[in-house]
Amino acid sequence: MSSCRSALGLAMTALLSIGAASSALAQAKPGYPGIGRAATPQEVAAWDIDVRPDFKGLPPGSGSVAKGQEVWEGKCAACHGVFGESNEVFNPLVGGTTADDVRNGRVATLRAGGYPGRTTLMKVSSVSTLWDYINRAMPWTQPKSLSVGEVYAATAYLLHLGGVLPSDFTLSDKNMAEVQQRLPNRNGMTTEHALWPGKELGGKSKPDVTAPACMKDCAAETKASTIPDHARGLHGNLAEQNRTVGPQRGADTRARP
Ligand code: HEC
Repeated sequence: MSSCRSALGLAMTALLSIGAASSALAQAKPGYPGIGRAATPQEVAAWDIDVRPDFKGLPPGSGSVAKGQEVWEGKCAACHGVFGESNEVFNPLVGGTTADDVRNGRVATLRAGGYPGRTTLMKVSSVSTLWDYINRAMPWTQPKSLSVGEVYAATAYLLHLGGVLPSDFTLSDKNMAEVQQRLPNRNGMTTEHALWPGKELGGKSKPDVTAPACMKDCAAETKASTIPDHARGLHGNLAEQNRTVGPQRGADTRARP
């Protein structure tokens, strides 16, 4: 138990110290002889790939929309569609945003409704998130296989498909902050949920756990989430499709008579 905890502690220290202290860490003597070893700077660097909304962590590089079209058609379109519209299985990446949204930084259909679904470009509020996600997770079958230039190019092409960037644009670490000022939902982020960012970044200190208990004239029934009528019956009855072991019991999703 104690050796387990020490090994975990070492791993945590290695992860938390990513950045300035990384080289010192690799040289540090292990505090627990015989248990693991300090991570090398190369190992730490391989993990340390996050790109923050203030664009810290973005590696230098660039990629054009034209190059992005090649990357897209070769490595992305099979799953996400030629125009980012995807197909029945995958959620569309592009669609539902307008030139007005690019100007205003709020996607109007998110509030007004009327668009069948929520695409990535409707929701994402920082270009860094797009870049980081493509860099760490895509293509789905070969994550981390893209070069830095390909990630810039694919991001640029996606933004071009969404009407955010013109066809002759080259996205780079130098101009990403300007491109951020064109992202359709850049002002759509809320911190009212109090879950993120933390107090230190200007968020609320506490999530919504302070509501006083109702002592008088309380609702007789609490409102749980429900399946809307139009979604019932689309996939049969989930209650009959779940495994019979374990605590999960599907809801009865048959269409109402
Ligand atoms: C083999 C299929 C496949 C390929 C190829 C693929 N993706 Fe994906 N992509 C997915 C799946 C599946 C998800 C959702 C993954 C998840 O939710 O964990 C996804 C998610 C994404 C998202 C985030 C969508 C969101 O709203 O959360 C982006 C952006 C993206 N892919 C870009 C790309 C790019 C760029 C390429 C090409 C370099 C690519 N993908 C190649 C299957 C694929």
